[in-house]
Amino acid sequence: MTKVKFSFQSVHSCSSEASQNLTAVHSILFADIPITGNVKIYSSKELRKATRNFCPGNMLGEGSFGRVYLGKLNKGEKVAIKVLSSESRQGTKEFLNELSVISNITHHNLVKLHGCCVDGGQKMLVYNYVENNSLAQTLLGNSRSGIRFGWRTRVDICIGVADGLTYLHEQVRPRIVHRDIKASNILLDRNLRPKIADFGLAKFFPGNMTHISTRVAGTLGYLAPEYAIRGQLTRKADVYSFGVLLLEIVSGRCHTDPRLRLDEQFLLEKVWTLYESDDLESIIDRTLKRDFDTEEARRLLKIGLLCIQDSPKIRPSMSTVAKMLKGECAVSDRIMRPGLITDVMDLKVRTVEPVQFSLSPSMSPAPSSSLVSTVALAGGSTVVESP
Ligand SMILES: Nc1ncnc2c1ncn2[C@@H]1O[C@H](COP(=O)(O)OP(=O)(O)OP(=O)(O)O)[C@@H](O)[C@H]1O
Ligand SMILES: [Mg+2]
Repeated sequence: MTKVKFSFQSVHSCSSEASQNLTAVHSILFADIPITGNVKIYSSKELRKATRNFCPGNMLGEGSFGRVYLGKLNKGEKVAIKVLSSESRQGTKEFLNELSVISNITHHNLVKLHGCCVDGGQKMLVYNYVENNSLAQTLLGNSRSGIRFGWRTRVDICIGVADGLTYLHEQVRPRIVHRDIKASNILLDRNLRPKIADFGLAKFFPGNMTHISTRVAGTLGYLAPEYAIRGQLTRKADVYSFGVLLLEIVSGRCHTDPRLRLDEQFLLEKVWTLYESDDLESIIDRTLKRDFDTEEARRLLKIGLLCIQDSPKIRPSMSTVAKMLKGECAVSDRIMRPGLITDVMDLKVRTVEPVQFSLSPSMSPAPSSSLVSTVALAGGSTVVESP
């Protein structure tokens, strides 16, 4: 791995039409950042041209860190350009973090980073364009995508996401916790293969410490209780979020739906109640009609419940989850009451730096709802995971 002295000024000044390899940037000031791989440096002129001056018609979506545009590079290659908003919480540090983390990683279930552009205060990330939008918009969103998610497709999506996370958790060195697994960060390619997006919140596990959390980020509803309450981050926080996602994929509904009766609003509670009354089938997405394997669907729901167990220790690792999904290992029947969103909602924890949480945009309830209240969280903490 080459360690490059990274400088905004030096990047900015190499804004020639041709993209340049970041490893060619040798000088100056800003930060030491380890970079390998072929992260390209794009000029802002090049990206303006690719997006027709960032015209609104080319906007793919907007998240909490800024807007994402479809761009066409000179060779006709399509890319997704994430323009980080200037008031974004994602500052230079996070930007460089995102860059260094993902530049090194290639897996068929992870979105590929092509490069970046820094133009004065403006920062942009250039990703591989993923054709079929996110699960939040297609499977769970209100807008009709026209995509039909048959049972096999759903199982394959779950397995793909599990494989991608297994790669981050167990095969990449240092290991990576994604920290923001949710439906809007699962993109689908033209064959509906899942690609995990957004490593901006991911952190390396440094040295012999298995995790460090300096601030909590994420979306309420996917957050593991121990992470939400104490800021304790381990790979098991991703396992929890994955469990929520798995339940969403099987049920075809979002983790929280404020339009439903109060006792129906929270998917996790609903699934647990049905598990207790031995009626898990009734949560399976009705639009599937009879196009599913009941036993397999029950198995997936149980795996989802295992992933969202209150205690991180008893949640399975992602590689075990992947094996269970593929039917390569048994699914334990020792399932206890999960850590539930409503437990977290009652929290009043003092903190140095409160963090505002929001539901995913498509499901945000009216401002009067208690769900949009600010949850003040504990500051950073370090917990050593047993190997
Ligand atoms: N590589 C990509 N290819 C195609 N579309 C993308 C790509 N990256 C993002 N998008 C689209 O842009 C939208 C906005 O993405 P972004 O990551 O900024 O926000 P988000 O994931 O929806 O929310 P949040 O900021 O809370 O994570 C996505 O929902 C997706 O539809
Ligand atoms: Mg995203």
